[in-house]
Amino acid sequence: MGCEFAGEMKYARGLEGVTAAITSIACIDGEEGKLIYRGIPIEQMAEYSTFEETAYLLWFGKLPTAKELEDLKEKLVKERALSDDIIDHMRKFPKDADPMDVLRTAVSLLGMTDPEVKNPNREVNIRHSIKMTAKIPTIISAYHRLRNGKDPIPPRNDLSHAANFLYMLLGEVPDPQIERIMDIALILHAEHGMNASTFAAMVTASTLSDLYSAVVSAIGTLKGPLHGGANTRVLYMLEEIGSLENVEKYVLDALKEHRKIMGFGHRVYKAYDPRARILKRYAKELSEKKGDTLWYRMGEEIERIMIREVGKKGIFPNVDFYSGMVYHHMGIPRDLFTPIFALSRVVGWTAHILEYLEANRIFRPRAIYNGPIDVEYTPIEKRQ
Ligand code: SDX
Repeated sequence: MGCEFAGEMKYARGLEGVTAAITSIACIDGEEGKLIYRGIPIEQMAEYSTFEETAYLLWFGKLPTAKELEDLKEKLVKERALSDDIIDHMRKFPKDADPMDVLRTAVSLLGMTDPEVKNPNREVNIRHSIKMTAKIPTIISAYHRLRNGKDPIPPRNDLSHAANFLYMLLGEVPDPQIERIMDIALILHAEHGMNASTFAAMVTASTLSDLYSAVVSAIGTLKGPLHGGANTRVLYMLEEIGSLENVEKYVLDALKEHRKIMGFGHRVYKAYDPRARILKRYAKELSEKKGDTLWYRMGEEIERIMIREVGKKGIFPNVDFYSGMVYHHMGIPRDLFTPIFALSRVVGWTAHILEYLEANRIFRPRAIYNGPIDVEYTPIEKRQ
């Protein structure tokens, strides 16, 4: 019979080394530790671009003209607000919910109440990409206010994506340095090839389901501690270690007991993640500005010991290692770090879907069957 037996089929655990799509959105050189968005090195994006411009580049394949950028910014600004209906639903969410669950549920609500969801086409999908990108910061900050017994702060239309998010979340317009660092963090997180959450989004979209459903799949996937959830875990780890002197023993014990050090290792990078290198600079800058450098110094020490012990295995800091320290020094609570990852990555998720749908084919891999065959059905009264 035509079961899928071992020996007859190739199997790659965790799909390692499997090529699932052809893309012109981003490329990672894991050996050299390089990342490009549409050909442009990530270092140049971080230096010169903005999140809004990055979104245009990833969605539409080229840097925008001044007019194209203004048009996109205007569309994003117009879509920032949430309806009273969505806010009313959110008021009923438990105050102690995981903000990633809140985000997943709220995006699902947006999809359920979007009249265009039933007739998707490329134009509609672009509109939905813009809508989700515009509204996710509002969802995260509205929930944070509501869980603290406060009313959500409505978005402002004169602020950048990064500044408006911080304003709605913390109640103050950030100073230009903080705004710029948040903008850079969003640029760095916007896209990363065929990572788990992007793949999850693409699998959902490949069935010709709608974009909201695909982003809901992606949010659920990003939440896990092996993926976007690691940034939150890094801070818990720093807290658990407690002091610079404890770092070496903690790391060596973890490695001996085969426990993972959060924010280290990567399926593709066998060198230093270039995004982590940039975020490290801002983690240092902000911790010095705040006069609270302990976690940064502990981070550097963890890095030194990890590279000494397992650098030869290709284990280095990844994007999640220093991002949490950056957000922490902005006064952001740690359970919002992974939602902030989603706030930015929604652009990469939707860019890949838009690209893949141009020549869509449903994702449908196979599995090697290693169970029994020719087993006879036993009636319930005869079962032991
Ligand atoms: C992100 O894919 C993307 O692009 C993701 C991402 C994006 O932008 O979308 O870059 C964002 O998800 C970053 C990763 C965040 N996760 C973590 O920081 C969690 C800790 N790291 C890992 O668990 C791990 O490195 C993964 C999940 C990131 C990668 O897993 P793999 O490729 O399946 O590797 P593995 O778990 O099979 O590890 C291979 C070896 C093992 O040693 P051996 O058994 O071969 O001796 O490396 C060791 C592992 O024990 N190892 C680690 C380690 N990561 C790997 N050892 C200690 N600490 C770690 N963090």
